[in-house]
Amino acid sequence: MDSRTSLPVVGMVGGGQLARMSHQAAIALGQSLRILATEPDDGAALVAADVHLGAPDDLEALRRFAKGCDVVTFDHEHVPGDHIRALAGAGVMVHPHADALHYAQDKRAMRERLDALGMAVPRWQPVAGAAEVAGFAAEVGWPVVVKAVRGGYDGRGVWVVDSPAALEPILAGGVELLAEERVPLHRELAVQVARSSYGQVAVYPVVESVQHHGVCVEVLAPAPLLPAERAAAIQQLAIRLATELDVVGLLAVELFDVSGRVLVNELAMRPHNTGHWSIEGARTSQFEQHLRAVLDYPLGECTLTAPAVAMANVLAADRAPAQSLDERLHHMFAAEPGVKVHLYGKRERPGRKVAHVTALGDDPAQVRARALRAARVLRDGTSGEGTGQGSGS
Ligand SMILES: Nc1ncnc2c1ncn2[C@@H]1O[C@H](COP(=O)(O)OP(=O)(O)OP(=O)(O)O)[C@@H](O)[C@H]1O
Ligand SMILES: [Mg+2]
Repeated sequence: MDSRTSLPVVGMVGGGQLARMSHQAAIALGQSLRILATEPDDGAALVAADVHLGAPDDLEALRRFAKGCDVVTFDHEHVPGDHIRALAGAGVMVHPHADALHYAQDKRAMRERLDALGMAVPRWQPVAGAAEVAGFAAEVGWPVVVKAVRGGYDGRGVWVVDSPAALEPILAGGVELLAEERVPLHRELAVQVARSSYGQVAVYPVVESVQHHGVCVEVLAPAPLLPAERAAAIQQLAIRLATELDVVGLLAVELFDVSGRVLVNELAMRPHNTGHWSIEGARTSQFEQHLRAVLDYPLGECTLTAPAVAMANVLAADRAPAQSLDERLHHMFAAEPGVKVHLYGKRERPGRKVAHVTALGDDPAQVRARALRAARVLRDGTSGEGTGQGSGS
């Protein structure tokens, strides 16, 4: 409890853009997020008043950080489960807890659990060497998707492999792997559900996410042309997962839409890129909802604030743009006065997510075009064709 405000103190491990936007939501709840950042210039460390520096796998740093927090939560998956158990054992309230978070940290454990729950996933198999991958490919066909069981994000740790020879550099990495069939996916969907420790759940509309080279570049809410009964079934699946896995906080479920069938791809237990649209596009943003859930406040409404919402990520260009970020921001505001921007306070390095923009409106195609145009202007100073997201990376 903060003695000055008589309101709770939430500690978030990780100082990236998710913590930065969670801090923004915390302010409205009368709070100020306590951040455990690795660097003083991490995006959240630049804006929060109560910043601790330390590595997420340093138990002593975690213990010092947790002291005085009412609840500790995460902006990433990098805190080892044993450290979370040690904190919980010492009386710290941690959400989500280690046993739940395990399924977001370990893709093999996640696949096994989803199999056990009877939820549809791509055909998969743990693999230890080239012979096993080749055997699996003989069943499902080349190419196969090989994934690092732990530590991957933004497509790092995911490889599309079309021959045994292509496996060599991956196997040389020495990390635990699994192989999956390459799903002939029609598109990718995602859904966020929040669950409080009391057990209340609140689920957002199902969205479509567009990925380039394994990185999310656009999110469309609600998912276009998704029949209401399919959307409801996906929301039910997310609620069931959050409940079965005993998640407290947000659960993001990434899905593949394969000609009308839905397969679960991945789980995350924190605010997620596919939920950024909710800051302006939903009655309660995913960041506020995560705070409410981990604090066991009643959850907020997830309803849309407009018929169509589009979010576009701004991935830094491969070559430094002629104009400064500040100049590009001027142009973006001039070109799209209705679009909202969130800059993450990060240096621009090729391909790095440095901001996102959100457009709202009545017509999904127009809203999408506005968000994309704004993201292009912010990325490289021009909205012209051929400079679009992903084209240069
Ligand atoms: N089995 C598959 N078949 C086809 N495409 C796939 C498959 N697995 C992954 N992909 C593609 O690669 C992307 C990244 O995969 P995945 O979500 O497993 O990796 P990640 O790097 O952990 O992602 P994140 O950044 O969301 O944590 C997916 O969004 C999808 O576009
Ligand atoms: Mg993913």
